[in-house]
Amino acid sequence: MCAARLARPQPLLPILDDEDPQRRLRACEARCTHEGCTVQYVPGESVVWCACHNGRFDLDGRVLSGPPPRPLARWVAQRDPDGSVSVAKSPEGSA
Ligand code: FES
Repeated sequence: MCAARLARPQPLLPILDDEDPQRRLRACEARCTHEGCTVQYVPGESVVWCACHNGRFDLDGRVLSGPPPRPLARWVAQRDPDGSVSVAKSPEGSA
């Protein structure tokens, strides 16, 4: 679960890729840059997928295929000592 204090709440997609040996926690904006559908993580393929028009993104939000015109905004996600997860806007913004 994501816990964040945001001035304007945005839907975020937390990602824990089972295939990443470093088990990095990632987060990206959950709203597709094409027409705003909610994207989802596809386990086993290590991609973020938008079902509306088959848009595909890598786990850093970069467009792999389909109609999305821009990458998904990335967020920095980290586990806190109490087990919760905090997220912050990535300094790079988008992928
Ligand atoms: S809304 Fe996501 S690919 Fe069109």
